[in-house]
Amino acid sequence: MARRKKIYEGKAKTLFEGPEPGTIVQYFKDDATAFNAEKRDVIEGKGVLNNMLSEYFMTGLTNIGVPNHFIRRMNMREQLVRACEIIPLEIIVRNFAAGSISKRLGIEEGTQLPRPVIEYCYKDDALGDPLVSEEHIAAFGWATQQDMDDIVSLALRVNDFLSGVMYGVGIKLVDFKIEVGRVYDGDFQRLIVADEISPDSCRLWDVETGQKLDKDVFRRDLGSLTDAYSEVAKRLGVMPKGA
Ligand code: C5P
Repeated sequence: MARRKKIYEGKAKTLFEGPEPGTIVQYFKDDATAFNAEKRDVIEGKGVLNNMLSEYFMTGLTNIGVPNHFIRRMNMREQLVRACEIIPLEIIVRNFAAGSISKRLGIEEGTQLPRPVIEYCYKDDALGDPLVSEEHIAAFGWATQQDMDDIVSLALRVNDFLSGVMYGVGIKLVDFKIEVGRVYDGDFQRLIVADEISPDSCRLWDVETGQKLDKDVFRRDLGSLTDAYSEVAKRLGVMPKGA
């Protein structure tokens, strides 16, 4: 069998050329990194859980008409996705203060924000994904005004969907990050949600106890990351066979 062509190796995923033109195979690794890869570990089973969870969230988005890159899951660690031109921004939506916004603005973690707050970081590992303003994005041509309108609309729709799904299983969606990419359909171009949606890219707190069920468990040494992600998967009814 021919070896697949590797397109890109990231911190938590590897991308390979897909079987049909315009497709990519997204392989979920067990590697966990934090603080711009200063802290790293291999957490057995994380890749499988994130593959299943991202499938679950992306399929849910498809069902409510939010365009995204997911085509189908191929196996426990891989999914087939639509190729797109990634906009070089991390789009963060926050419902409650935590993490960097708490540090930056001195807001106590857990404080409900007056409305969902959207932030942008420029995707650049060497720079540590710095926070940028819409002024930077426009001036440096990372996205057009139309792109920004579409990004806000996608981010808020994902927020409504994810908040509702998570609240239904007793979990508060504190914040999350998405990435978006450009695709071309004939003469039209549009933006779709890409990358992954998983506990690696969200903050998820148990509504009753406040227990953290996301990557902060790893960042802050709060216990077993796979136990936390398995709990999310179990509540959503998304359990890998044999787990
Ligand atoms: O660190 P910070 O508080 O800015 O993170 C906000 C949200 O974005 C968190 O859910 C975090 O997991 C996610 N994030 C991410 N990838 C990054 C930076 C943040 O998934 N590179």
